[in-house]
Amino acid sequence: MHAAVPGFYPQHVAIIMDGNGRWAQQRGRPRTFGHLEGAKSVRRAVEHARRSGVRFLTLYAFSSDNWSRPQDEVHALMKLFRRKLVSETPRLLENGVRLSVVGRRDRLSPELRRAIDAAERETADCGGMTLRLAVDYSSRDTLVRAATILPRAEEMTRDDFARAIAMVNHCPGGVPDVDLLVRTGGEQRLSDFLLWECAYAELVFSRRMWPDFAEADFDQAVDEFRSRDRRFGGLSKAI
Ligand code: FPP
Repeated sequence: MHAAVPGFYPQHVAIIMDGNGRWAQQRGRPRTFGHLEGAKSVRRAVEHARRSGVRFLTLYAFSSDNWSRPQDEVHALMKLFRRKLVSETPRLLENGVRLSVVGRRDRLSPELRRAIDAAERETADCGGMTLRLAVDYSSRDTLVRAATILPRAEEMTRDDFARAIAMVNHCPGGVPDVDLLVRTGGEQRLSDFLLWECAYAELVFSRRMWPDFAEADFDQAVDEFRSRDRRFGGLSKAI
């Protein structure tokens, strides 16, 4: 396990959990089986990130473009989110993990919205790590909605805009920029995820399908992050 070194260990890790469907199909199983196994990987990643000292973990669970998938897959995913929110909340509490769901809520079912509200309320005082689940999330939509809640565009600063994004994402206390973005499943793209927050994120792409993504893969991504020279547009400290 990595020691938590502030400023060096990534404080905000974001993951695009890709490859559930292919993982299942490679085994002759329906795609929804891959999502069920993917949920086990979510638990592993959350608990490992928490133990490792990550402060914010943002997981891409359902993009706004995922509504275009077959209805039975969408339905199975929504049911799985609701079931897991209910069943995993005691474990989140045990681990001191605060849950926050980012994304639109108006298109979610009332049952799912209720489960989200309850899980957020019950874990609100947990200070160990914040788990942000992105559901019906689109970064572009978020940016557009953030722009509409800022009244005086001419006086707006980057910090004001970041605060507006945090408000739109139901995180009024603010969230630090993403340090490390991991995408599993072998694809190398951002798919409308955290475009503002990833301005200086280090990107790590793993060929591992999400259900197979284990603690050692997480550590490998962090090691890759730690080996990078983050210059934020400046010059290397080594020069
Ligand atoms: C992408 O893989 C994954 C999703 C769209 C769903 C993510 C859901 C989970 C990890 C399951 C449980 C989550 C929670 C929060 C309990 P894909 O289906 O696009 O895979 P493919 O690229 O192989 O088709």
